[in-house]
Amino acid sequence: MADYDVVIIGGGPGGYNAAIRAGQLGLKAACVESRATLGGTCLNVGCIPSKALLHASEMFEVAKTDFAGLGIDATVQLNLPNMMGQKAQSVDALTKGIAFLFRKNKVDWIKGWGRLVGPGQVEVTGPDGATALSAKAVVIATGSEPSPLTGVEVDQKRIVDSTGALDLPEVPKHLVVIGAGVIGLELGSVWRRLGAQVTVVEYLDRITPTLDAETARTFQRALTKQGMVFELGAKVTGAKAKKTGVTVTFEPVAGGETRALEADYVLLAIGRRPVTEGLGLEAVGVKTDARGFIETDRFATSAPGVYAIGDVTHGPMLAHKAEDEAVACIESLAGHAGHVNYSVIPNVIYTFPEVATVGATEEELKAANIAYKVGKFPFTANSRAKVNHEAEGFVKVLADAASDRILGVHMIGPSVSEMIGEYCVAMEFGGASEDVARTCHPHPTRSEALRQAAMGVEGWTMQA
Ligand code: FAD
Ligand code: NAI
Repeated sequence: MADYDVVIIGGGPGGYNAAIRAGQLGLKAACVESRATLGGTCLNVGCIPSKALLHASEMFEVAKTDFAGLGIDATVQLNLPNMMGQKAQSVDALTKGIAFLFRKNKVDWIKGWGRLVGPGQVEVTGPDGATALSAKAVVIATGSEPSPLTGVEVDQKRIVDSTGALDLPEVPKHLVVIGAGVIGLELGSVWRRLGAQVTVVEYLDRITPTLDAETARTFQRALTKQGMVFELGAKVTGAKAKKTGVTVTFEPVAGGETRALEADYVLLAIGRRPVTEGLGLEAVGVKTDARGFIETDRFATSAPGVYAIGDVTHGPMLAHKAEDEAVACIESLAGHAGHVNYSVIPNVIYTFPEVATVGATEEELKAANIAYKVGKFPFTANSRAKVNHEAEGFVKVLADAASDRILGVHMIGPSVSEMIGEYCVAMEFGGASEDVARTCHPHPTRSEALRQAAMGVEGWTMQA
C-alpha cells in the first residue's frame, strides 16, 4: 500500500494548486517543499512581492508627479523600510493562506528537499531528518531559478538577481539592468520610480522579444519617456563588483568598441532555467531536453507514474500556466478530463503603462501564412483614460480574415492587466471580434476601448 495517492514535489503555484485540487477530489496528497514557506517563487520572491513594490512605487510616483495635475498639492516622501515592510506583510499573509488551504483540504505539507529514489518512492531530507514516502503518482513541480551569465557573479549585494532586487537596502543612484525582459522592466520601473537612474542593457535589438513588435515599440517609447535608458544590441562582457559599486562592460553585438558603465547596483535578469538538479530524475528515467526542461506528454514524463507541471516543463514560465497544468494534471489522474488551452494563456507586464496580451502576434500570423484583419483603438480616444490623465497606449485585436475568430489581442495602457480576461473568455468560447463589438460595455470605462478595437476589425469604430 502506498502512503499517498499523489506526492507533489514543490509548493509553488504548480505544486500547491495540484495538492489542493487533489485534496478536493478526495485523493490522499502530500506536498514536499524545501523553503520555509509555501507558495514557491511566485508568492515568496516573484509575482507577489514584485507587484507589491510595483503598486507602492506607482503610488509614490503618481503622488509626486501627477497629483499637481489633478489639483492636489502634496508633499511626498519615501519611507523605504516601511514600503519593504508592507510588501513582506503581503507575502506573509498569502503564504500562510496556502498553509491554511492545505489544512482545509487535508494535504500533508512535508518540509524538506524531495528526491526520487525509485518508482513511486520519494525521499525527503528535512529539518527532522529523512522521511521515505511512497505514492501511486509523483508530480514534479520544482519550478525555475534565475539563469546565470558568465562574467557576472551574483552576490546579492551589488550584483543581484530578481530576489536581491526585491530587497535592496537603498534606492540606487544608478541601477544597470542586464536583460530587457519582464523582470528587468518591472523591477527597473520600481527603482526608477523611487529615484534611481536606470540603464537597461539588452542583447537583442529590441525589448521584450516575445511581444508583438508594434506593442514592444510603443512600450519602449513609453519607458524611454519616463527616463529609462536602453542600450540595445549590446553584449555584456563582465561586471566587476567593488565595495561601493559595480563596473559593467559591454560591446555592440554587431562588433565595435567595449564600453563601461558605473553603477551602484546591477540586476541580472536574462531569463530563468528549470530546477532539476538533485531531484533523482536519473533514478527513475525522467528525460530532460538540452536546456534541462522535463519533457512531457499531457504532463506524463518518460517515467511511468511520474508527471511534471509548471516552470520545470516547456511553455511560458507563468504562475497561471503552472496553475492550469496543476488542475488539469490532477483531474486527469483522478479520472476526469483535465485540459489546458495553451493558445489562451495571457501574458501581462505590470509596469506603467501595463502590457497585456493573449494569443498570436502579428509576426506569428504572418509567419504561419494566416490571413487576418486588425482592429485598433488608442486610449487617447477613450474618455475614461483621458479624464484620468492616463491615455497612453492602445488595444489591438487580430481576427481571422475569413471566420472573424479572435486570434490575438495586444494591449498597452492603463489597467489592461485587469481587462485582458474579457478577451480570454471570448477566445475560450471561440468568439469572433463581432461578438465583442456587439456586447454592451459600460460608459465611461477603459473597457470600452476593448469593444471599440473589436468594432475596428470591421471598420466601424465610433469614438476615435
Ligand atoms: P515555483 O514557483 O518556482 O515553485 C517551485 C517550488 O519548488 C519552490 O518553492 C522550490 O523551493 C521548490 N522545490 C524545488 N525543488 C525542490 C525539491 N527537490 N524538493 C522540495 N522542494 C523543491 N508569473 C506570473 O504569472 N505573473 C507574475 O506577475 C510573475 N511575476 C514574477 C516576478 C518575478 C520577480 C519572478 C522571478 C517570477 C515571476 N513570475 C510571474 C513567474 C512565476 O513566479 C512562475 O512562473 C511560477 O512561480 C512557477 O510556478 P511553479 O510552481 O512551476 O514553480
Ligand atoms: P525574459 O525571458 O522575460 O527576458 C530576458 C531578456 O534578457 C530577453 O530580452 C533576452 O533577449 C535578454 N538576454 C538574454 N541573454 C542576455 C545577455 N547575455 N545579455 C543581455 N540580455 C540578454 O526573462 P526574465 O526577465 O529574466 O524573466 C524570466 C521569466 O519570469 C519571464 O520569462 C516570465 O515568464 C517570468 N516573469 C513573469 C512576469 C509577469 O508575468 N509579469 C514578471 C516577471 C517574471
